[in-house]
Amino acid sequence: MDRLYTFARSVLTRPVSAVVFPLLVFLSGFLVQVILPYLAINLSGQGSLLSPPDPAVIQGQEIYVTEGCQYCHTQQLRPVALDHKRFSKLEEFGYFPQPVAAEYDYDSPSVAGSIRIGGDLSRSGLKSKSELEALLAGKASGPAAALHDYGYLFDEEAGDGLFLSWKIKAMIGSGAYLSEAYQISVFEKLKEKSKGDALVAFLLDRGKKQREFAGKYYRD
Ligand code: HEC
Repeated sequence: MDRLYTFARSVLTRPVSAVVFPLLVFLSGFLVQVILPYLAINLSGQGSLLSPPDPAVIQGQEIYVTEGCQYCHTQQLRPVALDHKRFSKLEEFGYFPQPVAAEYDYDSPSVAGSIRIGGDLSRSGLKSKSELEALLAGKASGPAAALHDYGYLFDEEAGDGLFLSWKIKAMIGSGAYLSEAYQISVFEKLKEKSKGDALVAFLLDRGKKQREFAGKYYRD
């Protein structure tokens, strides 16, 4: 104890060391607790998975559920052999970034689904806007045309934002990384948008971040 006291006395009685020594202690703590952990993690693209989507995307998810899309489409790969085979065949079926847990953070309720009459839509963001709009309006070719008669969604307003604002408040309450400012922004973001626009925004968001930032091929 005596030695500690003498040491403290010798440091604190000299003005220069009284300033420099605590500063060094503080900076070494900063180095160990902030800088080193930061360098150790590869943050490239990871934060982007947590960044919130446009409010129209969350509204679009609501429309996805009310229209019952999840009864025919999944938004997940199931842990079965056939799925693995199908989605790892890059040459045959194209680019399908591997799913990661964080991408479901803003799904409320979950739209993962379990029945797959149509294709899996967790990567529908790889399609183009005009392609999706045509498909929903029943103008696609093949079996999809007869099953998608959703043209009316483009004539109905997406909503005045009040419902979405309450939904986001509830999501914040249950731990979603959304702010009050974001909650308020929904009124502006839904202006002059139709239900169809919101649904397309939602479909275009699926897999977008994986494609742009953090995509890994799904491989054997
Ligand atoms: C009755 C079942 C059913 C319902 C309900 C349904 N779909 Fe589909 N969907 C299909 C089928 C079948 C296909 C065609 C799959 C194919 O051509 O291989 C398809 C294709 C699609 C595709 C193109 C997928 C691709 O990989 O080419 C999109 C996008 C899509 N549907 C979105 C939706 C949305 C959004 C809704 C809700 C508004 C919806 N579907 C409702 C059955 C359905």
